[in-house]
Amino acid sequence: MKDKIKYVLLSEEEIDSITDFLAEKITDDYKNSDKKLVLVCLLKGSIVFTGELMKKISLPLEVEAMKVSSYGAGTVSSGAVSIQLDLMRDDLDKIDLLIVEDIVDSGITLSKICEHLKGKGAKSVKTCALLDKPDRRVVDFEPDYRGKIIPDEFVVGFGLDYNEEYRNLPFIGVLKPEVYGEGAVNS
Ligand code: PRP
Repeated sequence: MKDKIKYVLLSEEEIDSITDFLAEKITDDYKNSDKKLVLVCLLKGSIVFTGELMKKISLPLEVEAMKVSSYGAGTVSSGAVSIQLDLMRDDLDKIDLLIVEDIVDSGITLSKICEHLKGKGAKSVKTCALLDKPDRRVVDFEPDYRGKIIPDEFVVGFGLDYNEEYRNLPFIGVLKPEVYGEGAVNS
């Protein structure tokens, strides 16, 4: 698996310090809130990041999961987000929702999810993304918490996949172009 990696973009140590920084900021920002903090892990890419981040947030919290798909079977964003697993709670107006995402690319996924949750009655919705590729943005969206801006390269590891593989790499690496071919995006 590692022989398919062109170079390591973020080492385990670098990811660790980024998650430390984000968790400290989140803890500080939410410590005086009178609402319960609920992290929403966006499956599947955010599984690893959510697990690491939640361990470092020093507040009572709950964790939920949502699954959306923005690309279907293709490699280019269709612009349509289909919700495959929705957030099933009846207290959306009484909790602080923090959506945890591995990567923001076009921005479509997070902007649609925020819109969807607010439409269901959520009063407090913020987003936390480990990686951000602003060069690929097609909608006006900025995460509230951002780990690292990265160049427009195909990255895998720490939850991110190519064809469902590589999610278990402990670092984030740039995939060799010959593995994915031209035109593919992180999906
Ligand atoms: C990937 C990634 C983000 C989204 C980002 O998810 O994990 O959720 O795309 O892209 P966007 O900013 O262009 O919307 P994907 O739908 O591939 O599912 P996965 O998390 O299961 O890999």
